Amino acid sequence: MKIHGYWLASGILGVTGSILQRIRNSCADVVVTKSLGLHPRKGHLGPILTVSHGGLLNAVGLTNPGIDGFADEMRVLKEASVPVVLSIFGATPEEASEVARKGERMGPIAIELNLSCPHAEISQIAHDPDLTYRFVTAVKAKASCPILAKITPNASDYVEVAKAAERAGADAIVAINTLRGMKIDIHQRRPVLGNKVGGLSGPPIFPVAVRCVYDLYQELSIPIIGVGGVSNWEDAVEMHLAGASAIQIGTALLNGIGIIAEIKSGVHQYLEENGLSDVSEIVGAATRC
Ligand SMILES: Cc1cc2nc3c(=O)[nH]c(=O)nc-3n(C[C@H](O)[C@H](O)[C@H](O)COP(=O)(O)O)c2cc1C
Repeated sequence: MKIHGYWLASGILGVTGSILQRIRNSCADVVVTKSLGLHPRKGHLGPILTVSHGGLLNAVGLTNPGIDGFADEMRVLKEASVPVVLSIFGATPEEASEVARKGERMGPIAIELNLSCPHAEISQIAHDPDLTYRFVTAVKAKASCPILAKITPNASDYVEVAKAAERAGADAIVAINTLRGMKIDIHQRRPVLGNKVGGLSGPPIFPVAVRCVYDLYQELSIPIIGVGGVSNWEDAVEMHLAGASAIQIGTALLNGIGIIAEIKSGVHQYLEENGLSDVSEIVGAATRC
């Protein structure tokens, strides 16, 4: 699988086939589903979303219909030839591999293994290289499609975690998931989110994502899919220069789904103005200075 292009990030627009199809029609090269587990899950009590410092704080809590509950939506997407990456999670390596086994039968182009949701029980996996290795190995054993491992910047040694995923056979690394954060209501004197702690996304995390991709690019041989705060074509170019072969866009879509088309055309124009013919010519260029 060639890792390139501009994708919808996991979780931003859920798992409804018609909505994911609409994003595909608005120029997304690939759509990534909300993370799916073995069983349906209600998620956290509200409020589950708030804004803070130009970003979004969410504590959705991995609400999803379960892998079997997604089958009908996937059928809609397959019929419309939408390239779908199935995002999955599991509480144990065995559970994740079972979700992967069921998910692969639905025909995604790849499986993205969420090892890093900061406000759910799985938050600790991508803090531990050995655990990460076990999860990726278990999923690889049950699915023959490409496996993308999604990591967190909340881990102090995310490079070691990504290297463990690579050793276990991951085909690419997705960096980054949201950063742990919270917001307190000064009038009620209590945390705003029902779960108290949530994950920060959007523009405030962009420099963190760039740093992670830059660090990873120098240590890994597999491609990196950059995600975190990309909001315009300049951000996309910066993310490519740090080392991202492909880019996912999440929170920026809340300002309008035309953003992916705008980013693509901006990057294209940048390449043209600089006498370059393909984005691969700038991937990781900033690491060679
Ligand atoms: C409301 C919301 C729900 C999310 N749900 C998931 C999820 O289910 N699985 C996952 O791997 N990432 C999830 N994410 C994280 C995004 O995929 C992405 O990694 C993160 O938001 C950073 O990108 P962005 O700043 O472009 O949004 C979610 C993010 C938001 C804002």
